[in-house]
Formats: sequence, structure tokens, C-alpha cells
Amino acid sequence: MSAPNKSYDPVEVEALKPEEIERMRDEALAAFAAAGDLDALHEAKIAHTGPTSPLALANREIGALPPHAKAEAGKRVGQARGAVNKSLAARQAELEAERDARVLVEEAVDVTLPYDRTPSGARHPLTTLSERIEDIFVAMGYEVAEGPEVETEWLNFDALNIAADHPARGEHDTFFVKGAEGTGGEGGESGSGVVLRTHTSPVQVRSMLDREPPLYVICPGRVYRTDDLDATHTPVFHQVELLAVDEGLTMADLKGTLDHMVRALFGGEGMKTRLRPNFFPFTEPSAEMDMVCYVCRGESVGNPDRPCRTCSSEGWIELGGCGMVNPKVLTACGVDPEKYSGFAFGFGIERMLMFRHNVEDMRDMVEGDVRFTRPFGMEI
Ligand code: PHE
Repeated sequence: MSAPNKSYDPVEVEALKPEEIERMRDEALAAFAAAGDLDALHEAKIAHTGPTSPLALANREIGALPPHAKAEAGKRVGQARGAVNKSLAARQAELEAERDARVLVEEAVDVTLPYDRTPSGARHPLTTLSERIEDIFVAMGYEVAEGPEVETEWLNFDALNIAADHPARGEHDTFFVKGAEGTGGEGGESGSGVVLRTHTSPVQVRSMLDREPPLYVICPGRVYRTDDLDATHTPVFHQVELLAVDEGLTMADLKGTLDHMVRALFGGEGMKTRLRPNFFPFTEPSAEMDMVCYVCRGESVGNPDRPCRTCSSEGWIELGGCGMVNPKVLTACGVDPEKYSGFAFGFGIERMLMFRHNVEDMRDMVEGDVRFTRPFGMEI
């Protein structure tokens, strides 16, 4: 390294001249004062205190000065930089205070403003559950089918193999619709031949009459029976009907479909269904379908240490009816029973809601109180 240059005259170093240093300082102070916001101040800070700022560059020149000149130049640059930093800090504090005051005004909320007093509703859990069930089947390629709630006796009963004198007709506590004066009408207690549908099964008939197999439909809907409203009955309730008609369908397909549905609805391990022999005029063979208790999953059976209140330690919960579509019904609907077979099931959505969400009283579902509905969420 070469020795310091003793002949170097500080006066010759332009950047270190007192008036130059003063100019740099004043420029910095002016730039800070001119900065109107924190962003502009940040720019000015980089320009006037950063590593390539004039004062930083001047500072570097000091090293090249002869020893006798270093102290004086160092003091001069140091004082200027001190003044610049102080001014920067002061302006920074000033602009921050301004920003805080502005934010307080701009983001103020007027808590005295009247709010929208129209209470927002909520979708009924029966609707959302019904849509959830539809979704499970739509995902398997089923179509959603609908039918009218005011139905002909022929579709509600006769086409389903429930003739006028069939005892099953008596089991359906039917609302009959009065015919218009003088229309006569053919049968039934009302003489009008029109009823409020007692189940969703007439939609099976409508679907088969409407289109050719293969047919995969799911029909959720409102049904009516002359029950009094109490904790477990309501005269208006909902069912979901499922119908599949295709070549070669068997009860194994029905069982697999039911097992998939309860797994999709109740989730987790061990959900399955079982079939018990039963009778419905429109299915042959017919069965009552049970699902494994979704709480104890059957583990309470024969296990006094783990009683289950939900299924009374039975292990199973009754869900609804099902079976293979009776060939007589296929024939009545113009489907060739030699070529096609079908399966169907139907169950009540209210009952399903009671299981799935521990609703204890059916009246809560019909009263329309939004306080009952809200906790179920919107399930969009
Ligand atoms: N419709 C029957 C009822 O309401 C249920 C059912 C549907 C049974 C489809 C078998 C097949 O009780």
C-alpha cells in the first residue's frame, strides 16, 4: 500500500469544500421538507442518506486526505450527516402522525347509522338435506324428477298395484280433494279421483310413463297424510323416492346403492344397511331398510357397558321401504318386465333430519322459526 499523499490539498477536493457540504446538507433538508408522504420521504432518504448519496460519497473522500486535513473534513461531513439524519427522523415522525390522523378519519365507522333491519332468512334444513341427498345420486348419474302434490288416485294408488279395495289403501291416511261442483268424477271417497299424494311413489309411475328405460331418477318431494301434528308426526312431510329401471338390475344393486347413500350421509367406517322382509304392493320382493346406528355403529348390541340411546342398543335404525319394482307396475307403466327390472326405495326426510342432526321434535321443523333454522348454516 502506498504512503498517504502528503501533498494532497483538501481544498482541491471539490466534494469536501465547506460550501459543497453545506449545499448537500441543505438539499437533503429541502428534499425531506418537500416530501409530501411517507413514500416520497423514503425516496428522499435513499437519495440523501443512502450509500450513493452525495454526503456518503464525500465521506469516502476523507480517507484520501493527508492526516492534518482529515479531522476537519471529517467533522464537517459528520455534522452535516447528523443534521440530515435528525431532519429525516423529524419529518418521518411528522408524516407518520399525519397518516395516522388521516386513517382515523377515513376509516371511521359511524356507529349511529341505522343498519338494515330486514332480518335475513335461512334455508330450511329440510331443503338443504334434501339437496344433499339429491347430490349423492346426481353424482352417480341419477336425474332429479318431480311430480305434482295434487295427484290422481290412479297414479297414487292404482298404477302402483294398490286397487281401490286393497287394504294398503286404508293404511295411507289420505286427504281427498273435493271435485268441482257437478264434475261427477269416478272413484274414491271424494268422487273426484284426486288426492294429495300420500307418498312420492307416483313419481315412479310418471317417470316410467314419460321416458324409456334405462331410467335412473331421484324424486324428493312433499307428501300428505291425515296425521295430527305432534313430536313424531306431521300431516305434511317430505320423502325421497329413488327408482332405477334397467336390464339386469338385482337386489344386490339396490343394497349397494343404499350402502353408498348411508356412507355418504353419515360418513366414516362401518356404515351399512340391512334389509328385512316386508310388503309393499308396488315392489316384489319388498323390504324394510335399516341402517347401522350412526352413533354406536352397532357396538352397543349385547354390550351393557356401552348402551346407546339413539338405537336403544338395537344397533340398527329403521329408514324406509324398498324393493324390486313389481312386474305388474312395470307393465302398467308400459315397461317390458321380461326385458327390464327395477329397484326403488323411499324414506322420510324429516326422520333423516332427526337422526342426522338430533332434532327431537318434528314441530320445530314446521313452525318456521328462523332460530331453529339458522344453526344448520346455509350449506350453499
Ligand atoms: N312409498 C312407500 C311409503 O311411502 C315407500 C317405498 C318407496 C317403498 C319405494 C318401496 C319402494 O311407505
